[in-house]
Amino acid sequence: MRRTVRASEVPPGSVIGVGEYAVGNNGEYFAVGRKCRHLRADLAGGSIDPDGCLVCPWHGAKYDVKTGRMVRGPQGIFAKIPKLDSAVKLLTRAFPLDRGYVRQVGDDLTIE
Ligand code: FES
Repeated sequence: MRRTVRASEVPPGSVIGVGEYAVGNNGEYFAVGRKCRHLRADLAGGSIDPDGCLVCPWHGAKYDVKTGRMVRGPQGIFAKIPKLDSAVKLLTRAFPLDRGYVRQVGDDLTIE
């Protein structure tokens, strides 16, 4: 499984998939598990918002990449389901996204 990428592949504001991780650059490199805790969308296809959080590409749930916890639940029609927001946020308190350590040596990023 691929665990090394060039830093130039992850410019500021971008997210890519590296093995089981979504690797991004919100000013700092980060690596978190790729599967959204809501319906398992691939977070490598997500985006980074102005707060530096990772936003799910399917329904806009938002993750703090330092803790792996969801800080905003799914949006759209899912935002209208009573208690869904608090339930999925609570889920990620117990089961946050896995977090990898990104080590940079020159232009190489290794995810451990
Ligand atoms: S799958 Fe991520 S918010 Fe729905």
